[in-house]
Formats: sequence, C-alpha cells, structure tokens
Amino acid sequence: MRFGGLRPRRTPAQREESRVTESSGRRPIIAANWKMHHDHHVAIQFVQKLSYLLEAEVFENGDVVICPPFTDLRSLQTLIEADNLELGLGAQNCYFEEQGAFTGEVSAPMLAKLNVDYVIVGHSERRQIFGETDETVNKKVKAVLQHGMKPIVCVGETLEEREAGATAEKVSSQARAAFDGVKSAQAETCVVAYEPIWAIGTGKTATSADADETIGVIRGALRDLYGVTADAMRIQYGGSVKPGNIAELMAMPEIDGALVGGASLDPDEFAKLVKWSS
Ligand code: PGA
Repeated sequence: MRFGGLRPRRTPAQREESRVTESSGRRPIIAANWKMHHDHHVAIQFVQKLSYLLEAEVFENGDVVICPPFTDLRSLQTLIEADNLELGLGAQNCYFEEQGAFTGEVSAPMLAKLNVDYVIVGHSERRQIFGETDETVNKKVKAVLQHGMKPIVCVGETLEEREAGATAEKVSSQARAAFDGVKSAQAETCVVAYEPIWAIGTGKTATSADADETIGVIRGALRDLYGVTADAMRIQYGGSVKPGNIAELMAMPEIDGALVGGASLDPDEFAKLVKWSS
C-alpha cells in the first residue's frame, strides 16, 4: 500500500516477528533530531507529508523516529495515534528528577504520559552548551528507563581529541559512565549514538570505515559491561548524515542506524534518507 498514513498499525506480535531484519540481529533505527526547529503547526504538516511519502515496507526495514521540540510532542502523539502511524516519537532531553522546583525542566514521567518511545540523552550540544556531565547523563538514562522509554545515549569526541588519538578512550569512557549501574536487561533496550562532534552540522562526515571502527570500540566497551548483550544493543552514527551517504553508512556491519539533524528538517529529504535500502 502506498499511503503509510492509512495503514493500520501492526499488532505487537506482528512487530516482534519482523523485529530482526539485519544479519547482525539488530533492527535498524533512523531518528530525526529536529533540535530547536519546527513549531507544532509545522510538525503536524511534516508528519502528515512524511507518512504519505513512506510505504509500509520502510517500517519492515527498521524503526523511524521523530524527535521534535517538547512543544510539538502532544500534537504529534495525537496525530500518530489517530492515524495509526508506525513512526516512533522521541524527545530531545529530559530532567532526571520526577517532579519538583526545577523551573523550565521536563521530567521522564511527563514524557512517558505522552507515549514517548525514545529520549535523546547527552547530545553533545547539551553537554557543551548546557553543561551536562557524564553524571547527569547517567541519571537521565536511568530516569528514562525507569519510565519505560528507551534512551538514545550520545557519545563522541571533539576534533582536538580525535587529532590527539584519544577517540577510543573518550567514547569508551562516556559509554561506561552513561551505563554505570544500568542492568543488562535494561541496557539491551537502549540505543547509543556515536556522534563525532566535529561532524555535527559541519557537512563533514566520518568515513563509513572510521565510523564503523569507532562504533566497534563503543560496542567493545559495552561488551566489557554486559557481555553478549552488547551485541543486541543498537548503535547509530550521527553527524552530517544525508540521503547521499546513508546507504554507505548502513552497509557497515557495526552501524545500526542514524541520528539525523539537518537532513531531517525537510520531509522529502528525510523520506529519501529513511528509504536508504530501496
Ligand atoms: P547533523 O546533526 O545531522 O545536522 O550533523 C546530527 C545531530 O546533532 O544529531
């Protein structure tokens, strides 16, 4: 069927059946990180158009997630549920406390009430501009999991660190810190995004071989924590992913998907990107 928006959602059992589509056993996941773009009117138009552009098969091949600003979440939740769309809904951040005197913050249970599926945690813009630390990232990962959602945990090195040969140590220590005290059964549901900071919004992409190698390093660090469970954890690449480079990235054995900023802002471009396999 051509029109994604008119297609009924599959049952959980049907979804489970088609869950694994890669030889790695991991289901690809492409997530749009809109950052501070698109108000809720634009968001609704975007998702209507996107659902029209995506055939059912796209969702057979992997998960597609939209992470809009907080103010769009309720509108998109309503649209996704009313039209039975298979799109996942994600938030870009949350606070780790459940409630209280934290002016301007949004808690994990508030997001869970909106049927949010994923929460981006520790994006480099949050770490660099808003002072998030490995410790707050870890607390947020736990809060998101506690409320039944899946964190998309971001790690990545600066250009300086890369040039100093410190990439492997940086991403491994960020991964270890983010998952400190997180049990294996919960970790398995988490997504990690490897986003080299020098590649974000710059048009510079890590070569697919470099990205694959560093993701292998991250998986190695997760294996030290979780053993074989790490082989079930999905790790995305992020940083100037576009329709023109997604297929090459997705062909790499360690790369399970993409976290997409700039190229996720236009529905036509994002639809092209998520149809990477067709
Ligand atoms: P970009 O952003 O695709 O615009 O480089 C990616 C991200 O920051 O998640």
